[in-house]
Order: sequence, then C-alpha cells, then structure tokens
Amino acid sequence: MKIIFLGAPGAGKGTQAEIVSERLGIPTISTGTIIREAIKTGTEMGMKARKYAESGALVPDDVVIGIIKERLVKPDCQNGFILDGFPRTVPQAEALDAMGIAPDVVLSIEVSDDKIVERMSGRRVCECGASYHTLYNPSKDGAHCDKCGKELTIRRDDAPEVVKSRLETYHTMTEPLKDYYAAKGTLKCVEGQERVEDTTALTLKSLGI
Ligand code: AP5
Repeated sequence: MKIIFLGAPGAGKGTQAEIVSERLGIPTISTGTIIREAIKTGTEMGMKARKYAESGALVPDDVVIGIIKERLVKPDCQNGFILDGFPRTVPQAEALDAMGIAPDVVLSIEVSDDKIVERMSGRRVCECGASYHTLYNPSKDGAHCDKCGKELTIRRDDAPEVVKSRLETYHTMTEPLKDYYAAKGTLKCVEGQERVEDTTALTLKSLGI
C-alpha cells in the first residue's frame, strides 16, 4: 500500500504514520526527519536545507525530490510505504507522478490553526523519530523515550514565531494538494481528535485496515 499523509505542521502526521507503519509493516519516509538528520550531521544537503527548515520555509523542490528519488528505490519500499511530509507542493506531487508512483490513499488530517499552536508548544521528540506531547501523549517518565530511552528534546522549529510561519507556508503551498488529489479520487480527510487513539481509529477506518 502506498499512503501519503497530508496536513498542517503538527496535525499528527508523524504520530499516525508511525502507528500505520507498524501495523502494515511498511516504512515511513519523513522528509522532515531526513532533513533534520542531514542538518545535524552537516552533510552538503543539510547545509543547503538549514536556513529554510529552521525559519519555517520549505526546502527547495529539487533538493526534496532528490531525497525522495534516492529513498524510494531502496528494497524496503518494494511492498509499499508511507510518505509523511512529501509532497508538499504541486511540483513535488507532479514529480511523484513522473516517477510512476500513484498513491492508493492520500489522507489529510484536519486540525485548526489554534489547536496546532497548542500542540507544538507541548511536543517533545526523540532522535529515533518518536514524538510525544507533554499533555496528550506523554512518555512514561516525561523526559525519556519509551522506545530507546534517550532524552527527549524540543524541535528548533517549534518556537512560536516559526510555527506561525510554517502554518502560513502550509496554507499557501501545501493545502492546494487537497484539490490535486481530490481530482484524482484518492483524497480522504480525517478530523484530528483530542486524543491520539481517537484519531488513530478514524485513520485506520479511512485506510480500510
Ligand atoms: P516536518 O518534520 O515534515 O514538519 P511538519 O510537516 O511541519 O510536521 P510536524 O513533524 O511538525 O508535525 P506532524 O504532523 O508530524 O505532527 P506530530 O505527529 O509530530 O518538516 C520540517 C521542515 O522540513 C519543514 O518546515 C520544511 O522546512 C522541511 N521539509 C520537510 N518536508 C519538505 C518537503 N516535502 N518540501 C520542502 N521542505 C520540506 O504531532 C505534533 C504534536 O501533537 C506531538 O507532540 C504529538 O504527540 C501531538 N499529537 C499528535 N496527535 C495528537 C492528537 N490527536 N491529539 C493531541 N495531540 C496530538
């Protein structure tokens, strides 16, 4: 199954993608995670991407399309994959089409901007990719990852002024993708709920799994 998760920053794409990935046994490919890792390790791509990602802007299409092309040819993608954070612009969606990749479902998680700001302020992340929330989805001890035990941190781009800019970018650049995939008949929308497990129930139902 090839699934795309769409939605505003902090809508819960990564959280749901992780759950669906475990259930279906297919990998999640998060361009945000790949970019943050490249920034941390100081690769050439990371150095190019840093100024965009840390200010809440989109990294240029050619850079992100290159990342996806390299990743999707890996053997673990043969039985399907989940894209979290890609595509984020119409040219990126067109590039996916040009690669001959047609998603089975594009699932948009809908959450209001006010709720997003509240969620981002409580997000805590682990370098293994796991994401928590101080109120809605805390780790067992509140400070360390339940999966790998490492200390949780706050993402640099979760600062309130950067969140505002990421939301603006989402509405202008990414939201038009809903029309793009609705026209292809693959778009499904799920209303993001207060509790992670309630959103998961709606997500699994929409995906028919
Ligand atoms: P990326 O990492 O993709 O960030 P994003 O899309 O802004 O999404 P987030 O990871 O912030 O949120 P999410 O929807 O996954 O929510 P989460 O599950 O963590 O991208 C970062 C940057 O990289 C971009 O700004 C850009 O610069 C660059 N980039 C990446 N892809 C790109 C592309 N294709 N093109 C160009 N540039 C690109 O949940 C958020 C919080 O809420 C968590 O704390 C979670 O625990 C909590 N939560 C989740 N669900 C619920 C719920 N139902 N109820 C209550 N709390 C919940």
